[in-house]
Amino acid sequence: MVELIKKLNKDGRSATEIKKIVADPGFGKVFTDHMASANYSVKQGWHDVSVKPYAPFQMDPAMLAIHYGQAIFEGMKAYRWPDGSVYTFRPEMNARRFQRSARRLAMPEPAEDLFLTMVQKLVETDNAYVPSGGDKSLYIRPFMFASEVGLGVRPATEYLFLVIASPVGAYFDPTKAVSVWVSTEFVRAAPGGTGEAKCAGNYAASLIAQAQAKEQGCDQVIWLDAIERKWIEEMGGMNLFFVLGSGDEAQLLTPELTGTLLPGVTRDSLIQLGNDLGYDTHEGKISVDELYESIQSGRITEVFACGTAAVIAPIGEIKSATRNIKVGDGLPGPITMKLRKALLDIQTGIAPDKHHWVYRLV
Ligand SMILES: Cc1ncc(COP(=O)(O)O)c(C=O)c1O
Repeated sequence: MVELIKKLNKDGRSATEIKKIVADPGFGKVFTDHMASANYSVKQGWHDVSVKPYAPFQMDPAMLAIHYGQAIFEGMKAYRWPDGSVYTFRPEMNARRFQRSARRLAMPEPAEDLFLTMVQKLVETDNAYVPSGGDKSLYIRPFMFASEVGLGVRPATEYLFLVIASPVGAYFDPTKAVSVWVSTEFVRAAPGGTGEAKCAGNYAASLIAQAQAKEQGCDQVIWLDAIERKWIEEMGGMNLFFVLGSGDEAQLLTPELTGTLLPGVTRDSLIQLGNDLGYDTHEGKISVDELYESIQSGRITEVFACGTAAVIAPIGEIKSATRNIKVGDGLPGPITMKLRKALLDIQTGIAPDKHHWVYRLV
C-alpha cells in the first residue's frame, strides 16, 4: 500500500454548502475540497504522495507540458449505493489505460497500486461530495503532465500526477437522443498516432470538428478513419454501437479497435453485457455508406454512443455534408435504454455484479 501524507483542509466547504452542491451538481463545475497528488522525477521516482487541499499551483512559463503537450488523463465515476457505501467501476482498466497512455507519450507509468490508492484516498476524504440517486455521481479525473521547466524537445524528467473530483449530474438528458455530424474534413487519429492514448492533444485537435458539428446544428461529431475516410471509428469522447434488427433477435455491432480508437471501459463492458442479455454482440467494421443504407432499409434500428461521462447516449439523427438521416423515429430506442439501465443498475448496486466489475472505495 502506498504511504500517503494526508493534510486535511480546515477551510473546506461546510456540510450545508456541500449538501446544496450535490443536490444539483451540473457537470464539472464544482470541485471537491481536496486533490491527491504525486511527484515524479527521474532521480527520485514517485515521491511526495499526498491528499491535500484543492488549490491552484504555481506554474513556470517554461513548464514543458504547456509547450510540447506531455499531458494525459482518465475519467471515472464513483456512485453512492443505497446502503451509503461508495463504489467505482473497473478502475483497474483506467489504471492500465493510464499506463498505456503514459508509455505512448514517453512519460513514467504510475503503478496500478499508486493510481488506485490516490483515487481511493481522495474519495474517502471527500466522501461527502458523492451524490446519491439517479444519474448523479462523483466524476474522478486523474491526470499527469510534464512539470519540468525548459525548452528542449525531449521527454521531461519531472512530472506531476494529480487526481481531482467533481460531483456531477447527467451529461446528456438520457430521455432525448443526440444528433451527430460526420466529419469528412478533419480526422481524430491516424495509424501510428496517439488515438489509443487518452492524451490532451487528441482533444485539442478534435475541437474544431466539434465546433463544426455545432454550426451544423448537431450535438457531437462522428470520426471516420484517416486513410480511406470511410470507416466509422467513434463519436467525440465516446465509442459507438449499432443495433441490427429488433426484439430478442437484435444484434449489436461496435467498431473494432484498430489502434486509432480509444478502448473504452464502457464499450468493453457493453460487449459483455450485450451478450449476457442475449444480443449477439460483436466488433467489426462499418462504413458510413453502409450505415446510411442500413438505417434507410431498417436493418439498423438504433445507434448509441457510450462512455463514462454519459454512460449511454442515444443517437437520433446523423448528418453529413451530403446526407441527413433519422435513426428509427429519432427517439431513444428500447435496446439502447435497456442496456443503459442494465449497466447503471450494476454501477449503482441495484443489480448483481457477476463479472466483479465494481470496486468499493468507501
Ligand atoms: C475519445 C474517447 N472515446 C471513447 C471514450 C469512452 O471511454 P470510457 O468508456 O472508458 O469512458 C472516451 C472517454 O473516455 C473518449 O475520450
